[in-house]
Amino acid sequence: MQVDKKVVAITGGARGLGFAIAQRLGKQGAQVALLDMSAEALDSAVSSLSAEGIAAQAFVVNVADEQSVQRAFADIAERMGPVSGCVNNAGITDDGLLIKAKEGVVEKRMTLSSWQRVLDVNLTGVFLCGREAATQMVEAGHEGVIVNISSISRAGNMGQSNYAAAKAGVHALTVTWGKELARYGVRTGTVAPGFIETEMTASMRPDMLEKIAASVPLKQLGEPDHIAQSVAFIFENDYFTARIIECDGGLRL
Ligand SMILES: NC(=O)c1ccc[n+]([C@@H]2O[C@H](COP(=O)([O-])OP(=O)(O)OC[C@H]3O[C@@H](n4cnc5c(N)ncnc54)[C@H](O)[C@@H]3O)[C@@H](O)[C@H]2O)c1
Repeated sequence: MQVDKKVVAITGGARGLGFAIAQRLGKQGAQVALLDMSAEALDSAVSSLSAEGIAAQAFVVNVADEQSVQRAFADIAERMGPVSGCVNNAGITDDGLLIKAKEGVVEKRMTLSSWQRVLDVNLTGVFLCGREAATQMVEAGHEGVIVNISSISRAGNMGQSNYAAAKAGVHALTVTWGKELARYGVRTGTVAPGFIETEMTASMRPDMLEKIAASVPLKQLGEPDHIAQSVAFIFENDYFTARIIECDGGLRL
């Protein structure tokens, strides 16, 4: 699909990977709908994109909330037209071990609220936004592409029961939707980033980040535009659906 003049919704678009994806698709002519939590962050993202000549509009949303998502997608359709693309990128981490024991006594456990919060945003959010996007694509009678952002952690990662489970689920949605929606001309794809330099990774301990960078075969963290390039490939390649692109510098957890 050529994204020129097409409406593409990008969740978590105010910063990090979502912003880089908006920049790349926007430069290819897409009209980007940025969906994020904070009106302030969205305004500054829209201003930066507009300064680069990109058509962008802001939509405040909590992807984990059904009504909020339905409202945001209805607003997009009203202000910009029905979406042809949707990049489900919004995500959070809330790391912790399942249990932590000392001398046979369990001192700490992952709380249900930590589990639920991450599942709500990272998996239910993808379901809710994907459902609205698919509905608009099919009812508009035009082709569409849904890209879900997973993670290298989907294979299972220490301290990330919640995040790893959600990110594995995200790719299962891509495969399921690829099969279900092909008949309507809607394709899907997952991008699974490794460690990329964004605010999310900036919150990790610097010594941890150095260790990670040293363990990557390409010996560095990725840049947000590396992920945006993978997303753009899925949009462009009309024989790609239900599959995953791993963009991680060759790292395996
Ligand atoms: N940065 C990495 O190394 C990396 C690696 C693998 C996967 N990922 C995934 O890529 C995606 C983007 O990561 P990032 O590094 O840009 O993160 P980030 O924290 O820099 O940006 C995430 C954006 O999502 C928004 N967001 C969070 N919860 C939301 C909600 N409930 N509703 C709407 N918006 C919400 C935030 O406000 C923020 O603008 C995430 O899904 C993340 O899990 C990132």
